[in-house]
Amino acid sequence: MRDEYDDTIAGKKLSPESLMMGYGYRPEWSEGAIKSPIFQTSTFVFESAAEGKRFFELAEGGDESGEQPGMIYSRLNNPNLEILEHRLALWDGADQGLVFASGMAAITTAMLAYLRPGDVLLHSAPLYGGTDHFVHGVLPEFGVRTVEWEPDMSEADVDAALKAALPGRRLGAVLMETPANPTNDLFSIAMARRLADRHGDGESRVPVAVDNTFLGPLWQHPLQHGADLVIYSATKYIGGHSDLIAGAVLGCHEMMEPVVGMRTILGSMATPHSAWLMMRSLETLDLRMRRETESAQKIARFLQSHPKVKDVSYLGLLAEGDRGYEIYQEQAEGPGAMITFWIDGGEEEAFRFIDALSLIHLAVSLGSTETLVEHPATMTHAGVDADEKKKLRVNGSLVRLSIGVENPDDLIQDLSTAFEAV
Ligand SMILES: Cc1ncc(COP(=O)(O)O)c(C=O)c1O
Repeated sequence: MRDEYDDTIAGKKLSPESLMMGYGYRPEWSEGAIKSPIFQTSTFVFESAAEGKRFFELAEGGDESGEQPGMIYSRLNNPNLEILEHRLALWDGADQGLVFASGMAAITTAMLAYLRPGDVLLHSAPLYGGTDHFVHGVLPEFGVRTVEWEPDMSEADVDAALKAALPGRRLGAVLMETPANPTNDLFSIAMARRLADRHGDGESRVPVAVDNTFLGPLWQHPLQHGADLVIYSATKYIGGHSDLIAGAVLGCHEMMEPVVGMRTILGSMATPHSAWLMMRSLETLDLRMRRETESAQKIARFLQSHPKVKDVSYLGLLAEGDRGYEIYQEQAEGPGAMITFWIDGGEEEAFRFIDALSLIHLAVSLGSTETLVEHPATMTHAGVDADEKKKLRVNGSLVRLSIGVENPDDLIQDLSTAFEAV
């Protein structure tokens, strides 16, 4: 009988995709059920008062033994969440994962765990609209000042911007989205690490948090490049079927500790049902992401050669000399399935094109089995400052596609027909 945490056969380490069906679960826990049931329960019965006391001591971290607490209460822990967290950690090579009620719950909980009034947050730009609102609309109300890292800034430029903002303040965290939603701009994780180390106060490590929603967990592994926290909207590729909202944060035990504490107190964890759905989804993650990526490459080439398309931003089209090419080579392992393009014209032409699509659905979100189209400037990024959008090319002609698992030739047929309406 294999131990539920054994990830090897005869000493050879197994791939995450081989472990998604059983890792972290034993059928005998559940009457032999091959799949874990949903532990739809708020609380767990202790065998004795002493056991309850011990579990709380362990959950509160007052113990160096490494022993894990048993089940206490579903805001702190739950078997579905724990099995899922162990499986997610395998993809990113993390010690520990935590799942959340949404991607926004993951981002906000992680940032609140580290940022304090008076701190500076360095962030890449553009950011997903919700994250942008948190960074520019919420954090300043709590006394956090932000410094923006734009795609064309050199390391010296970001250094200078930080130097101007830091006197009398502490660099609290670096939050980056790479590739950026919606432009696919890339930011170097190694550079973020250097900046965090150089501008830290020398007392505590400045966390580099990477939103890996667009490429992870298959095509980019930020922890290997110097990141401390990997963050996901698990609503996207991890969930993968447009039927749940969830988030995740992963990292080493030490850097995760404040995030664990903050999640427990905010109650921002995922539900057992969403966790169960994600376990189902992870079984096909590798298959889905590979198929979607293969199709995206074909579709990006089609778009690139179309006379009604001004420009395409897709990682698979990056060539030597392009901005982002070196970063792509350094930290990504595949181009993923997110394509952004600028149609010849403006909002009117973009809308005419979008409304003429028939197989491809018009909806925000991404990373699902069905192909989705959206217009970031008026939808996911509607709330972003107008000048900021203009500067970052999030304009009326920008259209974002998330490629699904349909036959790519059918998708090209749909796109080609819709262009005729423009
Ligand atoms: C890159 C990125 N990060 C975070 C989020 C927020 O995730 P959620 O909608 O699951 O809260 C999104 C949502 O679209 C996203 O695209």
